[in-house]
Amino acid sequence: MTSALLTPPADSLDLPARTPGRTLPQPYYTDPDIFSADLRRVFYANWLFAGHSCEVAAPGDFLAFSVGDESVLIVRDADGVLHAHFNVCRHRGSRIATQERGHAKALVCGYHQWVYSLDGCLASARLMGDDFDKAAYGLRGIAVRELAGLVFVCLSPAPPPFQPAADAIAPQLAPHALERAKVAARFSYDVRANWKLLVENNRECYHCRGGHPEFCLSNFDLGMNGDPRVNGSYAATLEREYKRWKALGLAPADVSFPDGSFYRVSRLPLKAGYRTESLDGQPVAPLLGDLTEAGTGSLRVVTLPNSWSHANCDYALTTRLTPVGSELTRMDLAFLVRDDAIEGVDFDLDRVTDVWKATSEQDWQLCENNHAGVRSVAYEPGPYSAVTENSVESFILWYERQLASPTTLEMSDVQ
Ligand code: FES
Ligand SMILES: [Fe+2]
Repeated sequence: MTSALLTPPADSLDLPARTPGRTLPQPYYTDPDIFSADLRRVFYANWLFAGHSCEVAAPGDFLAFSVGDESVLIVRDADGVLHAHFNVCRHRGSRIATQERGHAKALVCGYHQWVYSLDGCLASARLMGDDFDKAAYGLRGIAVRELAGLVFVCLSPAPPPFQPAADAIAPQLAPHALERAKVAARFSYDVRANWKLLVENNRECYHCRGGHPEFCLSNFDLGMNGDPRVNGSYAATLEREYKRWKALGLAPADVSFPDGSFYRVSRLPLKAGYRTESLDGQPVAPLLGDLTEAGTGSLRVVTLPNSWSHANCDYALTTRLTPVGSELTRMDLAFLVRDDAIEGVDFDLDRVTDVWKATSEQDWQLCENNHAGVRSVAYEPGPYSAVTENSVESFILWYERQLASPTTLEMSDVQ
């Protein structure tokens, strides 16, 4: 088979150096060539959050997730096995699924009607002759994993290890049973900012006090994202809540990008009187999954480069980042509640989305303002706070390692 490169040689890039502890030089946020390298070396090489198990719960349910030039078709087969395929027909290369989600008995290419079974095998190809070898034209496979109701894919034929992330995240996220939830609301945004500014913004709460009034009702602005500050009242709350959560079988632990890896999971306490991240602190939907009590804090799950999620006792929010261009990023929010909860009876959608819709939109505005300033001739890399922006520096170090790694991916390796 001839091989086509997903990634050109690593040494073809001219990358300006960064001073440790400072933001990146301007081209990292604006240069289309560096953006192209970001796609190849970061997004095509790492595990990406693509969606939710509950969106592909039944055989034939599918989800198409696009990043850069690639589109991934995630589909559950008749045996309940989840597959991910390149959304590229093996005839003349057409996209097969053209909607973001749907349900199908088989995957039919709309161009000349080649038909693939849900597991990606070519089932029929009309007018191709009696001796046409259908077995040689199955869809190209992509690595896919389900983790406590979250679906991840990796375009690389040699994905980085996923199991340590699963081992860390699953015990804490599983009680929320997101695989038995439903998406109650989605919001998508085109944010005029480089994707790294959105991740940087997520990795600090320096801006929370000034920028997030709704979020700050229920959340402390320390104890987050590697902030080393201690405060007696926060420490006492943390100790009391950890004890209570352990008694509930929730296995709380703070796992923050161990050994420079791509994942974080941590159950954070909320302020006194707040049993969930709502405006008044009261639950806004029935308890998720196997939870028996409200007040399970806010379980944070972060996976670099493209997701952060918050699981409360009653609802969860996932955030999916998709880079579109060097100066444009698509952000998708999904709010999940238990699957048998009825809108208008068991929950009011506005109350479910109040805090995190407002907070997210505030973040997008902050990031657009940040990006606009970074484009100026006056911009020069600025210093991160050693108190409250350590996790931003850690993300940039992770990013720089991805960019430096020679990830030449051969399509001939793809099964
Ligand atoms: S390109 Fe798909 S059937 Fe022709
Ligand atoms: Fe924020």
